[in-house]
Amino acid sequence: MTKKFASRIGTIEISGIRKAFEASSGEFFNLGLGEPDFDTPEHIKIAAMQAIDSGFTSYTVNKGIEELREAISAKFNRDNNFSVSPEEIIVTSGASEALHIAILSVVEKGDEVLMPDPGFVSYSPLTKLAEGKPVGVPLSEDFTMSAEAVKEKITNKTKALIINSPANPTGAVESEENIKALADIANDHHVTIISDEVYEHLIYDGLKHVSPARFSDEVITVNAVSKTYAMTGFRLGYLAARDEYVEQMLKIHQYIQACASSISQKAALAAITGPQECVSEMRSEFKRRRDFAVETLRNMGMEFSVPKGAFYIFPRAKDEKEFVETLRKRKIIVTPGSAFGSRGKNHVRISYATSFENLKRAFEIMKEAVR
Ligand SMILES: Cc1ncc(COP(=O)(O)O)c(C=O)c1O
Repeated sequence: MTKKFASRIGTIEISGIRKAFEASSGEFFNLGLGEPDFDTPEHIKIAAMQAIDSGFTSYTVNKGIEELREAISAKFNRDNNFSVSPEEIIVTSGASEALHIAILSVVEKGDEVLMPDPGFVSYSPLTKLAEGKPVGVPLSEDFTMSAEAVKEKITNKTKALIINSPANPTGAVESEENIKALADIANDHHVTIISDEVYEHLIYDGLKHVSPARFSDEVITVNAVSKTYAMTGFRLGYLAARDEYVEQMLKIHQYIQACASSISQKAALAAITGPQECVSEMRSEFKRRRDFAVETLRNMGMEFSVPKGAFYIFPRAKDEKEFVETLRKRKIIVTPGSAFGSRGKNHVRISYATSFENLKRAFEIMKEAVR
């Protein structure tokens, strides 16, 4: 890269998901997408339209409107079993911004950040932009993150540990016991946990999502309405942490974002305080597709760990490049596993956030291709 640009930008690359997506044009079965295929529920859209109609289109306070932060505080109590006051919450532009300011606020040059490998594509680049060092934690066979594996990677430079349950790209869900063990290890070593909980409601088989903040104060909890309520384009997320953290993160948020969209804040308020049936309906449909994907891929002889949450399945592929290319020639998009870290290599991420009909047809074509 020329001298014109800051060297820190040279350390990161355009996401592998975007590359796969942009390479496609025309009629494709897209199993590469990381967002719900459902329409945003009607009552949420109405709240957004009412915000515009009533002229609620100006800046809001930096932290986000009081009534939304109160609703999020009540939501943490209702869904996650821990207490945070509205003052300990910042409303952000998606979970993406929340992750960005969480990492920027704790990571200094040379600090190490532990993260799942394979894991969500943003963790490593955001760490590099903060001039920190991403350190991948190898996952267990079922893609959960063991406290022992984390312990092995902790050094005196470790500053943060990112936990993502349910996980992208694997669909793995951490048990309560494991979350507590991870919180204990982090606490023992004065490591801040950044807990990315955007898929908390997309969880199957009677499992329950558990927040590390239940067990430790040194946690920045990141969440969003994006996946839960099919609102990815609203760009509305939030984070919760102790005062001490919030004070620092607010400084960054104030300068890089000012505030989240006023319209999206009203929409999120309707989402969080309104009827929750839409969430269970979407979850049931995702579960139906998950079961179908598991059965079909198994019949194809593919190997994978059964996903317990999110809307992805992460099977092994002998040669991921060849696999992705073979499918692409047949108009099916999947994401190469190495887009999610070095240990994602020779896997592919298949997203079932597409209609059952599309999934069925894509799997029929895939069956032929795999043969
Ligand atoms: C694990 C995870 N965290 C965060 C995000 C970003 O969420 P948002 O759209 O709210 O910025 C995503 C989106 O794909 C994700 O998969």
